[in-house]
Amino acid sequence: MKKFLTAALAAALILPQGASAQKWEGLAQTPQMGWNSWNKFASNINEQLVRETADVLVEKGLADAGYIYLNIDDTWHGERDERGFITANGDKFPSGMKALADYIHSKGLKFGIYSDAGEQTCACFPGSLGHEYQDAYMYAHWGVDYLKYDWCYTTNINPKGAYKLMSDALRAAGRPILLSMCEWGNSKPWTWASEIGHSWRSTGDICASFEDHQHYDENGNPSWLQLGVLHILDQNAELREYAGPGHWNDPDMLEVGNGMTVAEDRAHFSLWCMMAAPLILGNDLTNMTQDTYDIITNRAVIAIDQDPLGIQGLRFRREGDIEYWFKPLVDGSWAFCVFNRGTEDTAVTVDWEDFCFTDSLSGRSTDFDKVKYTATDLWNAARKPFATRGKVKGLRGNDHSVALSATVPGHDVLVFRLDPVVAGK
Ligand code: GLA
Repeated sequence: MKKFLTAALAAALILPQGASAQKWEGLAQTPQMGWNSWNKFASNINEQLVRETADVLVEKGLADAGYIYLNIDDTWHGERDERGFITANGDKFPSGMKALADYIHSKGLKFGIYSDAGEQTCACFPGSLGHEYQDAYMYAHWGVDYLKYDWCYTTNINPKGAYKLMSDALRAAGRPILLSMCEWGNSKPWTWASEIGHSWRSTGDICASFEDHQHYDENGNPSWLQLGVLHILDQNAELREYAGPGHWNDPDMLEVGNGMTVAEDRAHFSLWCMMAAPLILGNDLTNMTQDTYDIITNRAVIAIDQDPLGIQGLRFRREGDIEYWFKPLVDGSWAFCVFNRGTEDTAVTVDWEDFCFTDSLSGRSTDFDKVKYTATDLWNAARKPFATRGKVKGLRGNDHSVALSATVPGHDVLVFRLDPVVAGK
């Protein structure tokens, strides 16, 4: 009885009279950016790690580059109290979540947390099923700004209903909280979730590899498949029509700095930007290489992801292992990416007029036969580590009438920004 009253009252008292719940508008107008504990630390999280990560986000300029959400993933939970309210694990988070949120906010950052629509989270901590309004209320009370909401232990639960319920609960709790849906694309959330959440995972879990990684149980039978960058890319590439400001396809968090080669990290990061994906870092920010830092802070590449038009890029053409991607940007510009998904260095020649096309989704045309663009190479323009990669000929004097000839190393990318030359400038 007490438990029932608490949950129902929270909803009834906080929701303004006559207001029908809807998702918090105005959030994630460009894909959300931040950091999440799972990919690197899994269950090895605690208050000190989170505080140190907050410090680094600010001190190393990552927050300035846009990474403002600091998100704790699974395993932060303690028990529910006698009234059913969730608590934090006191050993891992001795100061409690409110104090941690205050610290994160004092740094100018935002605080994200994790739960699950089922009885338990994927790591078997208490899920939100039956406690949705209580949990949303508690998150708002702590000062949470972002909820990743997972999908383990949800047998016989309707996904749309479950996510709508939490979306309503967050709205009722009165604090703008971004809802990051993590249902792995099982029920095609891109077809129904744009009014409910701010992003939805489009695939299963990523691993720090271009190839998939099969896991086995103790009897040697295949258990679950962790997806490589290529597999995820191919699934997410098909969904571009569903993305837009406030509602993004989420091909999972970044694995930059978690074990792939520098070229692979650069390609992974660039492609996520071409796809207007949420950029949620997943590496140890307190201990990263210069290469990793240079990749995740390449502002010109980040600007592709964060372009206010909010249009997911398209894979325009594939020739063997070479893919050509375009993403329309504001003011008539385009991002252009040549991706080598194979392992061999490959020579490419781009005759620009061969790439004249109209993107039916955005209605934008490249018009290479009519419009002159300046082309900026967004990785080779960078410092030493990149200077020896793929040699680019053509584009001399920023003249697109010269064909682009380049060698794209295996598992690497070239990324250009093409800006139309405006008469008089
Ligand atoms: C699921 C999610 C992951 C991560 C783990 C935590 O697998 O897809 O991103 O949150 O749960 O247990």
